[in-house]
Amino acid sequence: MVFFVPVRGRQSEEYVARQRILTGMRPTGPLHLGHYVGALENWLELQHEYDCYFLIADYQALGDHLDEIERIRRSVIDVAVDWLSVGLDPERSPFVVQGYVPEHAELTLYFSMLTPKSWLDRNPTLKSEMQQLEDSHETITMGFFNYPLSQAADILLPKANLVPVGEDQLPHIELTREIARRFNRQYGEIFPEPQAKVGRVPRLLGLDGQAKMSKSLDNAIYLSDDAKTVQKKVRRMVTDITGQNPRLSPTDPGIVENNPVFLYHDVFNPDVEEVKDLKERYERGKVSDGEVKDKLVAALNAFLDPIRERRAQILERPGYAAEVLEEGSRRERVIAQETIAEVREAMRLVYT
Ligand code: TRP
Repeated sequence: MVFFVPVRGRQSEEYVARQRILTGMRPTGPLHLGHYVGALENWLELQHEYDCYFLIADYQALGDHLDEIERIRRSVIDVAVDWLSVGLDPERSPFVVQGYVPEHAELTLYFSMLTPKSWLDRNPTLKSEMQQLEDSHETITMGFFNYPLSQAADILLPKANLVPVGEDQLPHIELTREIARRFNRQYGEIFPEPQAKVGRVPRLLGLDGQAKMSKSLDNAIYLSDDAKTVQKKVRRMVTDITGQNPRLSPTDPGIVENNPVFLYHDVFNPDVEEVKDLKERYERGKVSDGEVKDKLVAALNAFLDPIRERRAQILERPGYAAEVLEEGSRRERVIAQETIAEVREAMRLVYT
């Protein structure tokens, strides 16, 4: 499926066929380096080639954080500011708040009529998240159980063809394809079958060596951290995931493989020669952990500096992020209403 959109920055009214993207995040906290390399970096590239919609999924966050409305409210704005500060362009790619476009809820409802419960029961991401909720004695609400369906509705409402996401989201994209197929078979070809696209670093490990950088594990460097904070966090970083190979002095030969500090160097330090040299000296016991970490601090701060500058500019305009969200949601809603009209027609939910 293709859409014709005007290409900004051109003189004449030239129209170019573009494929569409919808992707998003839950507003549950500030974004960190894992979000950047797993998703945002991809989005930044793709916004030039695709007609993109970036969604802040507040309904989805309510599924397991209904008692933390204030945190969600703050996070909706924080996520928008994070997106702006990495350089996503809301004029090119609308930022959408799920709850501002109630058609997302309507399509979720129709999909929930169409989808066998067993499709959700076997979803591995949902399964492990429900297990975690159960382990911490939290209630599993119907809204939570149903969130993969709401995600399918998010994606199909603007008829997206591509969904750049983290690895853990792949089962949800597969579900979306199954729902699109089932709907199209029953009611006629309305929806595309979207593809997933995983980022350069599908999963960035945490500062403590745990498999994943995450706010809840308290092992993250945030896009909004200042230089001093980054330094403090990197100095405390583990150099050994197993905890069995303590390196007590700079003259001890060190292990580079699976060493979190070097894994970060590989991802964030563009100076390949420097990294190679550090690795060689590390293995020969010719460099201290401190030096390796200080070089990482420098690389991370060089990476974060332009993001910090943009953030400072954005924060000089109070209310700007909220405006961006209103305007983006208004723009997506136009398309959402068209799709919903088609769906109601196809399902014969029009009573004459
Ligand atoms: N589940 C995603 C996350 O936890 C957020 C999300 C909601 C999403 N709707 C989406 C991602 C649609 C991609 C497409 O980050």
